[in-house]
Amino acid sequence: MSTKRYIVNVEAAIYRGDQWLIVKRSQQEEHAPGTLALVGGKVEIESAKDDVLEETLRREVMEEVGVEVDVVDYLESKAFAADDGRIVVDIVFLCRYKGGETRCVDKHEVAEVHWATARDTAGNLKAPGYLKQAIARAEEKRLARMGDAIQSCPKETGLSSSSFTSGNIVIKETSIDDLSNVMKLWNDGEVMKFAGNIFDNDAFFEKYSKLRKREHNYNGLVEQPAIKALLPGLQGKTVLDLGCGYGSNCIDFANRGAAGVVGIDISNKMLGVAREENSHELIEYKQMDMSKIGCLTQKFDLVFSSLAFHYVNDFGKLLRDIRCLLNENGILLFSQEHPYTTAPKCGPSWTKDAQGRKIHYNLSDYMCSGIRHAKFFADSDDVVEKYHRPFSEIVNSIISHGFFINNVVEPVPGEYALEKRPDYYDEFHKTTSIIIKATKA
Ligand SMILES: C[S@@+](CC[C@H](N)C(=O)[O-])C[C@H]1O[C@@H](n2cnc3c(N)ncnc32)[C@H](O)[C@@H]1O
Repeated sequence: MSTKRYIVNVEAAIYRGDQWLIVKRSQQEEHAPGTLALVGGKVEIESAKDDVLEETLRREVMEEVGVEVDVVDYLESKAFAADDGRIVVDIVFLCRYKGGETRCVDKHEVAEVHWATARDTAGNLKAPGYLKQAIARAEEKRLARMGDAIQSCPKETGLSSSSFTSGNIVIKETSIDDLSNVMKLWNDGEVMKFAGNIFDNDAFFEKYSKLRKREHNYNGLVEQPAIKALLPGLQGKTVLDLGCGYGSNCIDFANRGAAGVVGIDISNKMLGVAREENSHELIEYKQMDMSKIGCLTQKFDLVFSSLAFHYVNDFGKLLRDIRCLLNENGILLFSQEHPYTTAPKCGPSWTKDAQGRKIHYNLSDYMCSGIRHAKFFADSDDVVEKYHRPFSEIVNSIISHGFFINNVVEPVPGEYALEKRPDYYDEFHKTTSIIIKATKA
C-alpha cells in the first residue's frame, strides 16, 4: 500500500456578475509569493465530518478577503509539486459572491484584491496561465448556468416555456429606454453588479444622463408632478433631500422659499452635476450614504426623497434616523419604485402580444422581501442592486417608526403625459413608482 501523502488544497473561482475575484498573494506566502491567484487554502481535517472541501473554502474566503460565498459547482482539479517538493492536489470550485465588503483581511496572505472580468484576466500579462485557464473555464460554466437560469425563469413565474416562442404571445424583455422600462431581471446573483455605487460608473452615468435629459421622460411627466403636488408650503422651512442626484429638487425647494436645503447623495458624479447646474447659496450638497444620516446634527421640517429609497437595505433604520432629524410635525415625503416593480427576481417583466404591445406585467416573488439585481437599461449589462419590500412592509414600517401616513399615491400619466408619451399607457397596467407622505407623530 502506498504511504504517499498529499496536501489537499481548495480554491474558489468567485464571481459577482461577470467579474471574478482575484488576489495578489502576499510576498510572505510560502507558495508563489506575489502572484495573482484565486482565493483558497489547505484542507485541515481534525475529525470526521461532511462537506469538508466546501466548508474549508467558505472559511478561507471569509478569512482572506472578507466575503461570503455560495459554493455552487465543482470546476476542475490538478496536481502539482509545491516549492518544497510536496505534492498538492488542488480542487477548484465555482463560487457565487453572496455578500460582504471585499478587502484584504490578512495582509500576511493577501496583498491586493481585485474584481476583473474573464476578458481582462485573459489579457493580463501578469496572470499565470493556470489562473487564466481556471477563470476561462469558470466563465464558461457561469454563462452555461446563466443560460439554464433564464430557461428556468418561465417556470418560476408560472408561465410555460412555450410562451416564449409560440402563439401570438411573445415574452420579451422590456425595451423602452426609460425609467418606466424597469428592467430585464435575472436570477438573483446571476448578473453583473457594479462594485460600489452604480451612479458613479462612467457608462451607466452617461446612459442615465441621456435618459434624464430626454425632453419627455418618466420623472418629468409622471413622478414629479405627483410628488410635487404633495409638497407642504416651504417658505422659511428647512429641507433634507436624500439621494438628491442632480439637485433639481433642491433648487426647486430653494426657489419655493426654503430657508435652507441639504442635498445628500452617495454619487460623486451626480453631485458633480448638482454643484455645477443647481447650486444656490441656500443649498449644501454633501456626499454621503443615506444609511449614515444618523450623524447629521441639523434638524429639518421636510425630509424628501425621489426614487432612491429602494436602494437602501435597512428601511427601518432609515426611518428611525429620519424621524430623529425631523422637527415636531415634520414631514417625510418620498417616492420609490413601486413594490410591483421591485418584486420579480427574474424576468422578463412583461408579456407582450405579437405586435410588441404589453399585455400584462409578470408579477412574481412579491412577498419575498430582500435584495434584487436588475438591469436598469435593456441594452446594457449594468445591473443595479436594490431592495424589495411588499407594500404592507413599507406602510407598517412607516407606522411603527412613529409616523402618521397622510397620503399614498400610485401615480399614472395625465392627458398631457399620454399625448407626449402614448407608451406610458402601460402605467395603467402597473405603475412604476409609489409616493408616500407621512407626518412625524
Ligand atoms: C434614480 S436617482 C434619483 C435622483 C434624484 N432624487 C432625482 O429625482 O432626480 C437615485 C439617486 O439615489 C442615489 N443613491 C442611491 N443609493 C444611495 C444611498 N445609499 N445614499 C445616498 N444616495 C443614494 C444615487 O446616487 C442617485 O443619485
